[in-house]
Amino acid sequence: MDALVIEGGRPLRGSVQIGAAKNAVLPLMAAALLAGGESHLRRIPKLADVRTLGLLLEHLGARVRPDNGGLLIDAAAVDGREAPYELVKTMRASVLVLGPLVARFGRARVSLPGGCAIGARPINLHLKGLEAMGAEVVLEHGYVDVRALRLRGARIVLDIPTVTGTENLMMAAALADGTTVIENAAREPEVEDLAACLIAMGARIRGAGSAVLEIDGVDALIPFDHTPIPDRIEAGTLMAAAALCDGDITLVGARLDHLDAFVVKLREAGAEVTDLGGQRVRVVSGQRRCGVDLRTSPHPGFPTDMQAQFMALMCKGTGTSVITEKVFENRFMHVSELSRMGADITVEGASAMVRGVAQLSGARVMATDLRASAALVLAGLAAEGATTVSRVYHLDRGYEALEVKLGALGAQIERIKE
Ligand code: UD1
Repeated sequence: MDALVIEGGRPLRGSVQIGAAKNAVLPLMAAALLAGGESHLRRIPKLADVRTLGLLLEHLGARVRPDNGGLLIDAAAVDGREAPYELVKTMRASVLVLGPLVARFGRARVSLPGGCAIGARPINLHLKGLEAMGAEVVLEHGYVDVRALRLRGARIVLDIPTVTGTENLMMAAALADGTTVIENAAREPEVEDLAACLIAMGARIRGAGSAVLEIDGVDALIPFDHTPIPDRIEAGTLMAAAALCDGDITLVGARLDHLDAFVVKLREAGAEVTDLGGQRVRVVSGQRRCGVDLRTSPHPGFPTDMQAQFMALMCKGTGTSVITEKVFENRFMHVSELSRMGADITVEGASAMVRGVAQLSGARVMATDLRASAALVLAGLAAEGATTVSRVYHLDRGYEALEVKLGALGAQIERIKE
């Protein structure tokens, strides 16, 4: 298994290119199933999750080929309707094939994703929405079997603005008979990006980026040619790294308007963030301050996917921060590993109290999930001495060559085989 070895204490300087958003790419790949032809996704990052979904699409009968840094997905010959456990268990986002398969073929059988390190993460809202659209949903043998001769437009009020749930239902509604209204819809930029792509495919969608989506179903959609939005979480992670490590870096190809809530907190932490225009953002560490409280919430609130990295930032310095996780019920697994590096953190329920310490010390730590891994890398960059982060496969699910990008900025970090 791969591990990362980091020698902390190096300043970060220079420019870094931000890749396409993993959480935009995955639903866009699933959307290719909606059309009987070849769709083109441009500028696709080399991520384990993208490979996994590619395998799943191939398993369903699609042809998936790399093309000049992008992907060509031909869904003309799709004949399978089943997403097997072996593929779904490694990546929850596999559930994104459910909506497109039911909408185009009238049937889908998808393994239930099951428990996950960061909480129960059920898909009940995806299923309730499909039922409201007339689908018959049967749970058996660990699979969910969904059938509908043709989905019907419906009014769906989501209990929680689930991101992949909104995406699944939006894709399903695009081919349904009649108008669907999704209330309390997720407003994440990735949902908006998917809507833009679906509209280019011929879908009729209003309200993307707001809490109410209106979708008039059409009979067929055409293949797309789409460039996904930049990854706001990769950008935010590198911004937090700069803030923590005496940084002066410029992000190239980043959307600051997708990071508003995070940037407010980063500035409270002392960092200077400047929009240079043309999707270039400069981050200078400035006069570091701890003692920044935050609570995660759905977009446009502070993203749960940046909570662990921001906690790493709050570990070193003076002041006490209260970090409250409101999206997932068990997303503090990085706390015990950060504590092994000398951090002073107490968790009570959904809140973690982080008392800044003068210095973190390098240690052997273990990645437990995707964003927790990133937090450990950040702590390692700021710590005294060497840190070894093992189980880097979690990181590779969502960051393309993070160690190469950080290395080019001046960090001392290398990948080893253990
Ligand atoms: C997506 C992102 C993930 C991010 C998360 C929250 C992708 C591929 N993944 O995950 O990186 O951390 O949004 O921003 O885009 N819930 C239910 N029932 C459901 C669905 C969700 O109770 O049917 C709950 C979940 O347990 C969780 C909350 O809703 O507590 C939000 O989850 P959701 O928005 O669905 O996350 P994902 O779409 O899985």
